[in-house]
Amino acid sequence: MKQLEAVIFDLDGVITDSAHFHYLAWKQLAADINIEIDEAFNETLKGISRMDSLDLILAKGGREQDFTLAEKEELAAKKNAHYVELLEDLSPADILPGIASLLEAIRTAGLKIALASVSKNAPMVLAALGLTDSFDYLADAAKITHSKPDPEIFLVAAAGLGVAPENAVGIEDAQAGVEAIKSAGMKAIGVGTGLIGADELVSDTSELTLAIIQKVFHL
Ligand code: BG6
Ligand code: MG
Repeated sequence: MKQLEAVIFDLDGVITDSAHFHYLAWKQLAADINIEIDEAFNETLKGISRMDSLDLILAKGGREQDFTLAEKEELAAKKNAHYVELLEDLSPADILPGIASLLEAIRTAGLKIALASVSKNAPMVLAALGLTDSFDYLADAAKITHSKPDPEIFLVAAAGLGVAPENAVGIEDAQAGVEAIKSAGMKAIGVGTGLIGADELVSDTSELTLAIIQKVFHL
């Protein structure tokens, strides 16, 4: 029977504003190799794995043939080191508005909560925010073979909770993420503007409520 059993969250840009730090770190890395990226281009990187993001940046600069795999791994590691440095002061104060109380309300209602982030830094970020215990299952980004918009990470998250995908609602701030949720057969809530294909859009996280999740599930 179709029944709401779980809510599956993206991390970057939904739980905390780390999406901005990803952008700053990629912008610097791109500048180091004479490629300029702006916030509009950055939208296409949201929800995309580290290596796939680097490939998109190299393609943007017409430099996709200029680096060996070892050099690309070095570039990706450099970006990540900068990103981790930018997260140094991350604390519970950086949880986006409404998220902490929403997680509590979801748990109190007897629903399960999972994380579906393709970021390999996700466990560290959740720990810094003091939210590790708020999640019943974290899908392991290191074991994912296809990043969003492929549904894999959302399907892994639902399976990890023991919940059928159609009994879950996913929450995302990226276009690739909304597409991943829909391909997984779940209802999707988009956070932000300009997202196409979500079942419901809220302009920011403070508008996310259990009531909206329940309403979207029954659409
Ligand atoms: C996603 C972000 O959550 O994680 C992407 O939206 C990022 O911007 C991806 O590239 C991979 O993250 P990480 O931390 O493993 O480099
Ligand atoms: Mg995101």
